Amino acid sequence: MIDADLAVVDAAELVTVRGEAPLRGAAQSALGIIERGCLAARDGRIVFVGDERDYRRQVHLGRSGVEIDASGRTVLPGFVDPHTHLPFAGSREGELEAILRGATYEEIAAAGGGIRSTVEATRSAAYDALVDLGKTRLNRMLLHGTTTAEAKSGYGLTLDDELKQLRVVQALDAIHPIDLVPTFLGAHVVPQERRGDRDGYVREVAERMIPEMARERLARYCDVFVDPIAFSLEEAERILKSAAEHGLGLRVHADQLSDCGAAALAARLRAASADHLECAGEDGVRALARSDTTAILLPGASFFVRRRAPGLGRRLVDAQVPVALATDFNPGTCPTEAMPAILPLACLEGGLTPAEAIAAATLNAAHSLGLAARVGSLEVGKSADLQILDVPNHRHLVYHFGVNHCRTVVKQGRVVVEEGVIAGDAPRTLPGTP
Ligand code: NIG
Ligand code: FE
Repeated sequence: MIDADLAVVDAAELVTVRGEAPLRGAAQSALGIIERGCLAARDGRIVFVGDERDYRRQVHLGRSGVEIDASGRTVLPGFVDPHTHLPFAGSREGELEAILRGATYEEIAAAGGGIRSTVEATRSAAYDALVDLGKTRLNRMLLHGTTTAEAKSGYGLTLDDELKQLRVVQALDAIHPIDLVPTFLGAHVVPQERRGDRDGYVREVAERMIPEMARERLARYCDVFVDPIAFSLEEAERILKSAAEHGLGLRVHADQLSDCGAAALAARLRAASADHLECAGEDGVRALARSDTTAILLPGASFFVRRRAPGLGRRLVDAQVPVALATDFNPGTCPTEAMPAILPLACLEGGLTPAEAIAAATLNAAHSLGLAARVGSLEVGKSADLQILDVPNHRHLVYHFGVNHCRTVVKQGRVVVEEGVIAGDAPRTLPGTP
């Protein structure tokens, strides 16, 4: 018999997403669904995945074990959100109205809004205030099924302010059930006070900030926003090469607002991910297809800034590029923490199928963070990170859009959301206004 301390039984669909990460092409839609599926875990790890009959025959649930009845419901791996700008202060709802009047993201930035306005708010915010904001946001993520997330700095843009943001991420990782992967984004834009000295700023990021982040182990990845309003290909390459030399993995904000060759740069530098890609051309897509770089699509951001990229996901999957999905949670281009808001956009605008979108939001997202051996699918040996949705099958996640179907969340074998409410000793802060 297999001993267990937690079991989820009789799911209408147990969506395992088992497979060799990253999933590409046709493999991206093979979800490994088990009907009347059961899962058991012990000490936070999955020890059994199978059908009802085998579960009853093989699993012994200890006296104090918890058995969750998932009948009529769908069980998925917890979402992995591989691109967020979590630690920031302030909000920019005024920019929404400018966007609705027809202003572009670049015009808003040139007029003093955009990233630089959040930099001011974040620099002014105390560390404790950023931790409190972060907790509230992470609780919202958890309530929508996210169990692992990446979190970028990039609203500090001085050594001390970037350190403050990444220390906030470190603290949040320690106190909240969601596991956080920290990314240093000192090269988000050139800060206002350094505009006359961009070369000096690039040098400071590459030669002073990156070594410090690596030394203090505050970042696992380094990201650069490559765009005419941010950093050039050459500047990005200098920064990313320094990051690689200091042992950081690489991520790139690539070809979001124009095709500037950033997808190909990400592939050439063996970046873990090339993110956005709304404007990526054929060369960029081909370079990604030949590489191990995961394409992370952020359809919430293109929807929100009204820069549509119809069929983008379809094009990438068909080109054999492994595709992941993320919220891009940030106050300017995608102010939502909810992965379930992203999947319908990825399908109805980007052309993915519900199955491809689910693989993108779980196993491929985990792969892009170097975590596919631990999370992202429901397989024996992996962490028991899962969500139970009140829907009869996985397609409802896209079809029945705009409501939160997530009822129960389990993180490392512990129930952290119970019938839609944060449970146990997880922080109980209720979702409020950021
Ligand atoms: O991923 N493009 C750059 N960075 C963010 C937006 C940040 C902001 O507007 O505050 C993005 O879209
Ligand atoms: Fe982003």
